[in-house]
Amino acid sequence: MSVEDLVLPLLRPTRLQLSLLSRFYATISRAIHRCMRARRIRGDVTLQGSFAKGTILSDKWEIDVFLLLDNVDLGWLRKEAEQFLVECLGHRLPVVIKYSQQPYVSVSLMGMEADVVPVARGAGSYRGLGAERTPLHTEYVRSRLDEHRRDEVRLLKSFLRGIGVYGAETRTRGFSGYLAELLIVYYGSFRETLRNVSRWRPPIYIDPEGIGDRTFMTRKYRDSPLIVVDPVDPQRNAAAAVSRNSLETLVLAARLYLEKPHPWFFHIAQPSSLPLPPLPGWLLRIQCRGALASKPPDSVWGRLVRSARSLRAHLESRGFEIAHITVESDEYRSVSITILLDSCRLPDMEVTRGPSITSDLRRATRFIVKRLRESGGAWLDGRRLTGARPRPWIRRSAILASLEWLYSSSSLPLREIAPECIVSCRRCGEENKPCNPTPPWIASLLRA
Ligand code: UTP
Ligand code: MN
Ligand code: MN
Repeated sequence: MSVEDLVLPLLRPTRLQLSLLSRFYATISRAIHRCMRARRIRGDVTLQGSFAKGTILSDKWEIDVFLLLDNVDLGWLRKEAEQFLVECLGHRLPVVIKYSQQPYVSVSLMGMEADVVPVARGAGSYRGLGAERTPLHTEYVRSRLDEHRRDEVRLLKSFLRGIGVYGAETRTRGFSGYLAELLIVYYGSFRETLRNVSRWRPPIYIDPEGIGDRTFMTRKYRDSPLIVVDPVDPQRNAAAAVSRNSLETLVLAARLYLEKPHPWFFHIAQPSSLPLPPLPGWLLRIQCRGALASKPPDSVWGRLVRSARSLRAHLESRGFEIAHITVESDEYRSVSITILLDSCRLPDMEVTRGPSITSDLRRATRFIVKRLRESGGAWLDGRRLTGARPRPWIRRSAILASLEWLYSSSSLPLREIAPECIVSCRRCGEENKPCNPTPPWIASLLRA
């Protein structure tokens, strides 16, 4: 029995799940219809996303409800849609306001979640805010995928999630559900997709329907490692969110999996903890609080990721060796950056390598004078100038280096959204997740 045959039954949605989600949809649809009548807004309430396309996974308790509205315009969507949705749904269900290019809301009920997205139908397919393409996506995928291929999509989505590259949000910069569907349409199956991916050398250009202008697209998406021409909009790259890093993660995972398939590549079959010892390292943590609920998650994650990158550069320039860095947020009030380091304190002495003896004299002199002024020294070690200096105490501590960074302007993206911060650095403990960042699919190589 192949790994895929083993995993697939775990991924198919259950009848109970589908019936609960349908009833949830009916509840929302009814509330919105009532509201639309009262305000004389005309249009349709429709089910989109993976539930409508038949590619939903068994542990997904989310539906996508799109309101295709006739007598509203883009101005209404930007300014009034939010209030409309909160008033229509908010008196019965908890509603959270979200943004992508436009406001939409997320409604929750007993662990289920619905994204409710208003769209101006009259605004034209390509001139609106992006969301009006979704019904076309649903239609396209439905016309191209039979039940067998929907299974193949489920395998690919679970694989992408398992290796941490599922989702087009800023936080992941990976593969959306729609992109996974397009890859299955194009390559035919999960295996065939992996076989092709394992040979990918970016930039990759894929045109499932053969409708794109390659020159135009490669120019428009110059920085994209992957271009997949959207079958419903030939000028759009359906893979625009995919970062180089996500792409390479997928290529590596595809190669490893084809070599030795293992259930741990699939999110549904991953163990909650791995049989790996925590590394004897140190964890530097910067935890900050702020009012995040009102901010678009994409902007919160964007700032967090940029801040982490700048903190990393700061620490590295001071001599810290960084093994791994993770960012977290509840998108509500807290964000954190966690860094696995070889040490929280650097040694008292810092060794510096100088220019080679044959290089120009000015550089050599500068090196020597600098070391001497720093109460250090300089000498020849083989054919190279070498020096050393006492490291100032303030530069020895990862905590102080982080505080220094926190009060510098390069930490602004973080402080603007979450100004109250605390910093700590502790030896790795029992909590072995951040202390051994090996993901399950890589750890699967350990088995006999
Ligand atoms: P989803 O992210 O819910 O994807 O977006 P999905 O295909 O249903 O897959 P899973 O199973 O939930 O992971 C559904 C549709 O909504 C549109 C996208 O175009 C997608 O086709 N969408 C999503 C937006 O227009 N705006 C958003 O902010 C998010
Ligand atoms: Mn969805
Ligand atoms: Mn959604």
